Amino acid sequence: MVIAGLRRLEYRGYDSAGVAVQTRGADGQWLLATDKRAGKLVNLEKSLAETPLAAGTTGIGHTRWATHGGPTDANAHPHLDDHRKVAVVHNGIIENFAKLRADLADRGHTLRSETDTEVVAHLLAEAYDGDLAGAMRAVCRRLDGAFTLVAVHADAPGTVVGARRNSPLVVGVGDGENFLASDVAAFIAHTREAIELGQDQVVELRPDGVTVTNFDGTPAEVREYHVDWDASAAEKGGYDYFMLKEIAEQPKAVADTLLGRIGTDGRLTLDELRIPDQVLREVDKVVIVACGTAFHAGMIAKYAIEHWTRIPCEVEVASEFRYRDPILDDRTLVVAISQSGETMDTLMALRHAREQGAKVLAICNTNGSTIPRESDAVLYTHAGPEVAVASTKAFLTQLVACYLVALYLGQVRGTKWGDEITSVIRELGDAPRQVEQVLGTMEPVRALARSLADARSVLFLGRHVGYPVALEGALKLKELAYMHAEGFAAGELKHGPIALIEEGLPVVVVVPSPRGRSILHDKIVSNIQEIRARGARTIVIAEEGDEAVVPYADHLIRIPATPTLLQPLVSTVPLQVFACELATAKGHEVDQPRNLAKSVTVE
Ligand code: G6P
Repeated sequence: MVIAGLRRLEYRGYDSAGVAVQTRGADGQWLLATDKRAGKLVNLEKSLAETPLAAGTTGIGHTRWATHGGPTDANAHPHLDDHRKVAVVHNGIIENFAKLRADLADRGHTLRSETDTEVVAHLLAEAYDGDLAGAMRAVCRRLDGAFTLVAVHADAPGTVVGARRNSPLVVGVGDGENFLASDVAAFIAHTREAIELGQDQVVELRPDGVTVTNFDGTPAEVREYHVDWDASAAEKGGYDYFMLKEIAEQPKAVADTLLGRIGTDGRLTLDELRIPDQVLREVDKVVIVACGTAFHAGMIAKYAIEHWTRIPCEVEVASEFRYRDPILDDRTLVVAISQSGETMDTLMALRHAREQGAKVLAICNTNGSTIPRESDAVLYTHAGPEVAVASTKAFLTQLVACYLVALYLGQVRGTKWGDEITSVIRELGDAPRQVEQVLGTMEPVRALARSLADARSVLFLGRHVGYPVALEGALKLKELAYMHAEGFAAGELKHGPIALIEEGLPVVVVVPSPRGRSILHDKIVSNIQEIRARGARTIVIAEEGDEAVVPYADHLIRIPATPTLLQPLVSTVPLQVFACELATAKGHEVDQPRNLAKSVTVE
């Protein structure tokens, strides 16, 4: 059961894996049986198949994304104390571990790994006096940093204790069995009833009950919720990879995110948006913070927000935002975009923003996660669980949510007429069909990707909203194919990066619609000619009917006609397919690229 849970969580980290199970020895005494292996979960599974652990009904497990100490067997979790009484798994970073470790060594403990985690096993063993939850609370009060901890003790059979500070942990409530995991996906096959744990809380889990306390020992209030998807949503459903499944799910994900958000009067109703209209009317600046792919969604949102609402909008990677003393006040609206809702950089950015008095709106895909809980308001994307590390359907739904926020701001502030909003909404409503249409024409893109498997480098160019799309196309290729890939603003190329162009270099160009802002289109057609004149092999993504690009395209990828601002919803899709196919052709496992993790809960 623990291994099956880990399989569903492996996307969060796959440097090593381990388990510990409470079991009885030959003498009838309870003891902990453990195994742990460097590398992916399959290595642990192989080891367990060769040397199975004794049977037990209480156990813990972990998949790791290395922070302190390389991905070795010794650094894999669980970590045990000197007497093998306590086993601990941990996500996060214990910042004061060096001092704690030195003190433990002085007191005669032998530390066997390079991890910060191991100190907790030794501290728990010292603190245990028959009450594991009490010991955990005492230990947590001595720890600095961010952590989710889960522990078992050989002398407390049938009990698992967990703790959380700034790192996710949820309880699954079963019938005669209970679960703890950093994501509901781990136990969704067993129960859809969950409990959110708050900040600085300890949970004691027994087969027949769950007790939650604060670190100071006072009883904690908890919120129960029902998970509205089931195990099949987190399975591959006939696809070779989650990423392929998630790319294919995009039309439905986009439609689901739009669902129920347009009132019968044609006006937008964002019920979950709990910031009063009056406050939104007074906003004088929007700041978007996010990481990775979500940051690219934010870059696109800026174009829509400024164009539709005339409110100045900044976009910044969350890890930089907080540390440069940004100018924020109670008229600033901060939009935090995160698929997982757990990205530590984004969480820290929004906490800083709220401390400065700004209102924070989260755009998030994971119900009950930390970022929406700590925000003033949330707009959920309804992409369903995204398992592949490289984000696809979450990105498209983040775009939809950003467009909705921009339109809503335009509506409450009166910068956009009702009929203009209705017309954009109608165009958004067409997006699922258009994405479906793109997905149906991807075979030549896949063939092209396979033919480029040996390319050393690929460049991506775009203008306006096509620029973040180019960045996203390059990020996908880096993440999945481990290739040098870079995105540039097409107009900026001539100011330096054009020196990279050499004979045969593949360059992907995202071309804006020739209708509407035709000046943009004309400029990029010139940019294509400039790179082609220098030997680039041009791969052009252009709207159906755009004939002007045809003479300069070595490869032409057609997308349906859309309004300029909405084009990323369709132009991103071929780039996802391209990266996925190219990585597969290189023999890489696309769902779990090396060195990455899906939700990074450390700064
Ligand atoms: C990690 C993932 C990326 C993701 C980013 C932001 O770096 O590898 O794919 O875009 O985190 O994640 P979030 O859950 O906050 O959207």
